[in-house]
Amino acid sequence: MNNIHPIFDRLLQRADREKLLNQKSKVLWLTGLSGSGKSTIAQELERKLYNEGFLCQVLDGDNIRSGINSNLGFTIEDREENIRRIAEIGKLYLHSGLITICSFISPTKVSRDFAKSTIGADDFIEVYINAPLEVCESRDVKGLYEKARAGEIKGFTGIDSPYEAPVSPDVEIKTDECTVEEAAQKIFDNVIAKIAVTNKTI
Ligand code: ADX
Repeated sequence: MNNIHPIFDRLLQRADREKLLNQKSKVLWLTGLSGSGKSTIAQELERKLYNEGFLCQVLDGDNIRSGINSNLGFTIEDREENIRRIAEIGKLYLHSGLITICSFISPTKVSRDFAKSTIGADDFIEVYINAPLEVCESRDVKGLYEKARAGEIKGFTGIDSPYEAPVSPDVEIKTDECTVEEAAQKIFDNVIAKIAVTNKTI
């Protein structure tokens, strides 16, 4: 940190921006297997929140990995670096007053705990998008499970790379038991009291 002079204390604060936006910022962290429905639910939830007057930003695995994290692969170390950067970006958005929806496999407890401590436990809402591996594999929207089974992709989550399910998430969605709309509604119902300011009409 030599020769670095942060100016955080001279800038406008998170509370100033939350007031401007008439909302309380939070990070909603969606974790789950590839193909569990994270991205689809994130899109639906963003639209729903937007329609109710909330300013949101979605950070999604495939998007982020084609840009800022394009130099990262899928070793456990690279996945942890992926999540570390996303957590830092989530924190920047948090302080910008936005509601950020992060949609990443984030397969290890240690990486999710890191994200939670970076963002702050009070502002981090863990949402487990829970779909059985068989269901994700049978959907195989991107054809990646087939490639992983054929050995064309090594270290695929759920096949030959671990996924540690959250033990006590704030919200759990079983995507094989509900529609996308119902899933987004359940998350919305869970977070609304945490993001709405009392004089907001919804
Ligand atoms: S994470 O493990 O680092 O959190 P992230 O959510 O960014 O993963 O990216 C997951 C997406 O990358 C998957 O939805 C899939 O499209 C693609 N992908 C490519 N290779 C793999 C792999 N080996 N394991 C899991 N997903 C992969």
